[in-house]
Amino acid sequence: MAAEGENIILFPFMAQGHIIPFLALALQIEQTTKRYTITIVNTPLNIKKLRASIPAESSINLLEIPFASSDHGLPPNTENTDVLPYHLVVRLLEASTSLRPALRELLQKLMEDPHRPLCIIADIFFGWTASVAKELGLFHLIFSGAGGYGLACYYSLWVNLPHRKTNSNEFSLPDFPEIHTLHKTQLPANISEANGADAWSLFMRKNLSEWINSDGILFNTLQEFDSLGMLYFRRKLSRPVWAIGPVLLSTESKSRGKGSGVSPEICREWLDTKPWNSVLFVCFGSMNTISASQMMQLALALEDSRRNFIWVVRPPIGFNINSDFKAEEWLPQGFLGRIQESKRGLIVHNWAPQLEILSHVAISAFLSHCGWNSVLEALSHGVPILGWPMAAEQFFNCKLLEEELGVCLEVARGKSCEVRHEDIAAKIELAMSDREIGKEMRRKACNIRDMIRNAMKNEDTCMGSSVKAMDDFLSAAAAAFIKEKTTETRDQN
Ligand SMILES: *[C@@H]1O[C@H](CO)[C@@H](O)[C@H](O)[C@H]1NC(C)=O
Ligand SMILES: *[C@@H]1O[C@H](CO)[C@@H](O)[C@H](O)[C@H]1NC(C)=O
Repeated sequence: MAAEGENIILFPFMAQGHIIPFLALALQIEQTTKRYTITIVNTPLNIKKLRASIPAESSINLLEIPFASSDHGLPPNTENTDVLPYHLVVRLLEASTSLRPALRELLQKLMEDPHRPLCIIADIFFGWTASVAKELGLFHLIFSGAGGYGLACYYSLWVNLPHRKTNSNEFSLPDFPEIHTLHKTQLPANISEANGADAWSLFMRKNLSEWINSDGILFNTLQEFDSLGMLYFRRKLSRPVWAIGPVLLSTESKSRGKGSGVSPEICREWLDTKPWNSVLFVCFGSMNTISASQMMQLALALEDSRRNFIWVVRPPIGFNINSDFKAEEWLPQGFLGRIQESKRGLIVHNWAPQLEILSHVAISAFLSHCGWNSVLEALSHGVPILGWPMAAEQFFNCKLLEEELGVCLEVARGKSCEVRHEDIAAKIELAMSDREIGKEMRRKACNIRDMIRNAMKNEDTCMGSSVKAMDDFLSAAAAAFIKEKTTETRDQN
């Protein structure tokens, strides 16, 4: 059991895309500091799921906070966005604010415990927890699994709704002029439909603004390549902002695989037969798929390009994502036979060991939805990206990668846009050929890989920026802890 001031409470929003980065953060703090005990707080069904994904050697504690979904107009036993249709996601967000009294009670008990916690680190959607922590004299941080630039665009869009104030397709962000302009096609559905009075707007505008009460913000990113995003939040909130990334799950834990479609060994053996820098990896994350017509065009593009590829496929939009993949129906006629014969492609169903694949020297580029975890995994291995953003802040991640970092070409935007196989094939060729653009992208991606290695250096003589940021936020929390205790002792005397 941890001593006083050595326990850290983590409180992620109830969605896999949020819980997994928090689990990664928990393991990273545990492993790099070897000092703190982590307690993850969540609703009962999420705790149950988490219990199964915590590695045996970890001493992470889990604490349940009561929640009854049916009290909030949600189906019974639905505590995670993964099991909810899109129109109910916002209801789970609203319902999460009802956890306030229970969280307060739980924290108050912990504060009276001899193992009194050092700080609480809460989700970007849990701005309301800042005032609870303040009432109790507990140091409070927000952790974003997403990067600074992407989240800055997202945050600014919600608090300003600039697209509502113009008829033009392009507009700028009033408090983030550094990014120049955004286009309407780069808005995720819930922002593009927002008018300030709908449920999403009401939730986001109030709860994101609550960050101002937090003691600091942690980002899963690097100061070196995400300085614009860090600048935005420092200026906007006048709080410390710490770039502590990349925070990644070091092994493909059970929580990620939705039933793996292929073993790491098969991928490795296949990749071993391919020349260095010759394979395109195509994967849109564990939550996404594309439309049937997009899938057909992508398949034709992969054939046109004559490059090697590994493609993680899922049934297209409109079909049950867990149903069998009907290659005869969804891919061009004879496609599977042709790629099998030419040995140019490996088709994987549902899920692939992404980190193992990206780390292989045969990989040349990654066609990705630009989810932040995928971006960090690719950059950590110096792999340039062909961006096909689909939702949330992915559009802005893609913009950062292409316009600021020069490691990406955007090939398409969204799950419903029309794509032409000639255009996709042309971008694949640009990125993978030995001509200038492709070479330049690979060179820049390798620079970023080295930046990441340096930021993670943890030696006595040399502490990387991310390791130092982790150290700094823990020191700030410790200073606040001592101050709080001194005040209390004085008050008691
Ligand atoms: C967060 O959003 C909910 C739902 O819109 C709202 O009821 C609540 O007041 C907001 N929280 C804060 C702290 O403003
Ligand atoms: C908007 O909706 C998506 C689902 O399409 C949801 O996952 C997301 O949390 C919402 N907010 C964002 C991140 O855009």
